[in-house]
Amino acid sequence: MKRKVWLTLLLVVGACLCAGAFASSINQPDMPALSTPSILDTASPNAREVRKLFWLVMGFSIFVLSIVVAFMIAGIVGGVRDRNHDVEPPQTHGNLKLELAWTIIPLIILAILLVPTLSAIYQLDGFAAPDNAIEVNVIGRQFWWEMDYRESGVSTANELVVPVGTPVRLNLASGDTMHSFWIPQVAGKTDLVPGNQRTLWFTADREGVFYGQCAEICGDSHANMRLRLVALSQENYAAWEEGALQAATAPQAELAVAGSQLFISKGCINCHAVQGVNTYNRTGPDLSHIGSRTSIAAGMLANTPENMVRWLRFTDTVKPGVAMPNLGLSQEEAEQLTAYLDTLTLPGFDMTQAFNEQPQNQVNEFGYPVDAAGNPIPESELAMQEPTKEATR
Ligand code: CUA
Repeated sequence: MKRKVWLTLLLVVGACLCAGAFASSINQPDMPALSTPSILDTASPNAREVRKLFWLVMGFSIFVLSIVVAFMIAGIVGGVRDRNHDVEPPQTHGNLKLELAWTIIPLIILAILLVPTLSAIYQLDGFAAPDNAIEVNVIGRQFWWEMDYRESGVSTANELVVPVGTPVRLNLASGDTMHSFWIPQVAGKTDLVPGNQRTLWFTADREGVFYGQCAEICGDSHANMRLRLVALSQENYAAWEEGALQAATAPQAELAVAGSQLFISKGCINCHAVQGVNTYNRTGPDLSHIGSRTSIAAGMLANTPENMVRWLRFTDTVKPGVAMPNLGLSQEEAEQLTAYLDTLTLPGFDMTQAFNEQPQNQVNEFGYPVDAAGNPIPESELAMQEPTKEATR
């Protein structure tokens, strides 16, 4: 009797858990406006190929799970109804038919999955990119992304700018350890392996800012090795490219001029390239037009003066393991440098005006999702959680 009560209780709790999980999944349609990148909210035909595979695998998984759960429930119900608890059930050893069934059925399922998977792998690889693809060399480094456009010669970092409707081929390499390039809404993950070149391609089919993330553990700040894809209209992309090929105008304001001198005297110039100042030091990200980027610190922080000052003063606490040393800058020095970096904008192109509407994905200075008014989205509404932390502490 006692056992029956326990089993009933177990069933009820299980049913409640299932119902809860189902109820929370019903809220999903509200999610695409958030910054959590989803492989289901696609922005390229290649990502849709990945999504097809996802649903195919999910379909088979649900099918297998339902059969297993059905047998399990039948077993539990049968056991509860069976009054002869003290009698040992018949003991059997081996059942050829069953053994064959659970060997052959999974083999068939895996064979069915293999065909579209192989076809997708070949289709999404960089060598399958159309001839008119824009080629970008992407190098993963601890903990940022170098991006060099092969035809135009534009160099940038952490924000990949592409035109909507034109294929983009990425040649992926690593400058140190293993990383993995992943912008879920446009393409699948591709590992960056030292000494090896991988490729992938995609065509962005709508404008917007799409979030990416290094997807291979690569050191202290692996989780802080983010990136953004900025998909612009053809017209805006042409304007961006033209601006990106020019040096930013020299600073005029007193604060910024002081910052430009600090940029040299403090040694920033030894690692960072700035067009018109020095284009050969490439240990760190190219800062030629950092003032026009939407984020700093490899997608960690929104590009605001407050964040820049904090980043310059507390590099190693904002981003543990970062190669950029903490130079012990004073608040004043950091503000001067920030004023200078703010002047390094794309000549003749305003990135924020490039979007007719607000970029679909809004984040606050910590990189966490906020609504259109700038208010943090309640944690209960977020599918994926990251702990909020005070970046400077
Ligand atoms: Cu780079 Cu993880």
